[in-house]
Amino acid sequence: MKLKSTIDSIISKALLDANIPNPNLSVTKTTKKEFGDFQYNGAMGLAKKLQTNPREIATKIIAEINSAVIEKVEIAGAGFVNIWLSKEWLAQELALIIKDENLGIQKVKSKKNIVVDYSGPNMAKEMHVGHLRSTIIGDTLANLLELLGHNVIRQNHIGDWGTQFGMLIAYLEELESTNSIKENLKDLEEFYKLAKKRFDSDAAFADKAREYVTMFQSGNEHCLELWRRFIDISLEHCEEVYERLEIKLTRDDVKAESSYNAMLPSVIEKLDSESLLSLSEGAKCVFLPQNEIPLIVQKSDGGYLYATTDLAALWYRDQDLKATRVLYVVDARQGEHFKQVFWVAKAANMVQEDVSLEHIAFGTMMNEQGKPFKTRDGGTFKLIDLIDEAIVRAKNTLKDKDDTQESIEQKAKIIGIGALKYADLSVNRESNYIFNWDRMLSFEGNTALYMQYAYARIQSILRRYDGLFEGDIKIESDIEHELSVTLLDFEDVLHKSANECMPSYITSYLYELATLFMRFYEQSPILKEGVGQETKISRLLLAKITADTIKQGLAILGIKTLEKI
Ligand code: ARG
Repeated sequence: MKLKSTIDSIISKALLDANIPNPNLSVTKTTKKEFGDFQYNGAMGLAKKLQTNPREIATKIIAEINSAVIEKVEIAGAGFVNIWLSKEWLAQELALIIKDENLGIQKVKSKKNIVVDYSGPNMAKEMHVGHLRSTIIGDTLANLLELLGHNVIRQNHIGDWGTQFGMLIAYLEELESTNSIKENLKDLEEFYKLAKKRFDSDAAFADKAREYVTMFQSGNEHCLELWRRFIDISLEHCEEVYERLEIKLTRDDVKAESSYNAMLPSVIEKLDSESLLSLSEGAKCVFLPQNEIPLIVQKSDGGYLYATTDLAALWYRDQDLKATRVLYVVDARQGEHFKQVFWVAKAANMVQEDVSLEHIAFGTMMNEQGKPFKTRDGGTFKLIDLIDEAIVRAKNTLKDKDDTQESIEQKAKIIGIGALKYADLSVNRESNYIFNWDRMLSFEGNTALYMQYAYARIQSILRRYDGLFEGDIKIESDIEHELSVTLLDFEDVLHKSANECMPSYITSYLYELATLFMRFYEQSPILKEGVGQETKISRLLLAKITADTIKQGLAILGIKTLEKI
């Protein structure tokens, strides 16, 4: 149910019928209930243009509104049109939602091919918190767009190519006789450090490493074999993180930097044929308008760069995947890179003009002191350790003494991982985000636990009722009215969140919904003695839709719900 668009079209029609031009009409949800459910505030702007009085325009509009959806309209202040929805209509719409397993959420009519490029860890190193944010936000966006009916193509653009691999495989080869390769690569960070140390201190080794770069890049089978094994184990580390976090990325979604290698010379040719290529100090680059620093695409020694691979990837996404929207869920610090790559790809006709290329930037994860998140000794936090700690801490918050050990473990996992994801998704993604265990695992405020608790509480009410669910919703009070409008607003919130790639719209909505429900439950007891059967059923149905909405909303965020906490 697209609530806002329904109201939009009623007002549009009224304007049309009143012979008033209506560019970009939009109604908004009100923040205060005394202003109704929705408000149209275009009369002031229109009056200015038409040189009349806004209240007069508002009066004309109101005279034309004639719809069963709307119960009451009022003009307020300078010419605001306040709109109250009909309780009967709200109840009718909610009844449709109850019957629909998809909560009445319609699939989009114009299905798009949407690439979501997320996670993108580098194979030479351990995944870091920046990749954690990309993974969590990207997975949510992919889930959301899929739910709305788009054809989503998840792409994990892993960094598995580059000169550092010469050094790494040369070192791996050296160690091979001493230990199993898995054992050697247990800690990638450590392995990298040791290889680097060896590279810096031993000239013969450094020569070999350099030789291996050229050898594996030009297809030497021995080097490629070493490299493949290195990547395979490195990927296993990432998969461990995905699995623990219940992220939907699989090996099939990996489209590595190396896979574009063969395309790179033709990227340069294409740029050349489009007359975009310049030579600067021996390097091939593209100058952008109003930008002094060019985008380098090939170094003077012939080597290609991160940007060249991204151009190839875009070309592939346009030509082969036929993407019409490409989302890059990557750290905000790569903003300039994407601006340049997007511009060049379009200027070079590698991507059609109408394809939407979007950098879904996110801020840095900070510690309490406002510094980038690191371990106590300044090292990078191993993600797997961070996830495990979330689960252990979640276990400490669990109270139910009746639980078996197994179910405690199970619950702690759902709560811990849910809390980690929710804390990240509930902040405006563009801001830096301060990581705080206590806030993350608090039962108060806009947290995963508050949502889990609200959901479990409704489930317990539904369990305690042992009668039949036969009857209708009847909206009897202001709070029930408000809860109903909010429930029907879900689909619009999902669309807004998908259009702007803002998962925090969903968490804010869920939080508002859960708080409203708590208020409703206080004012409208459900199972209490003395509540009539019809009222009881109506309230139970409202509770059920609330729970289903919370469950669906959390599922989009990749968070499971518990029937009992
Ligand atoms: N590997 C990159 C990094 O760690 C992220 C890749 C993002 N995707 C892309 N198409 N550039 O910074």
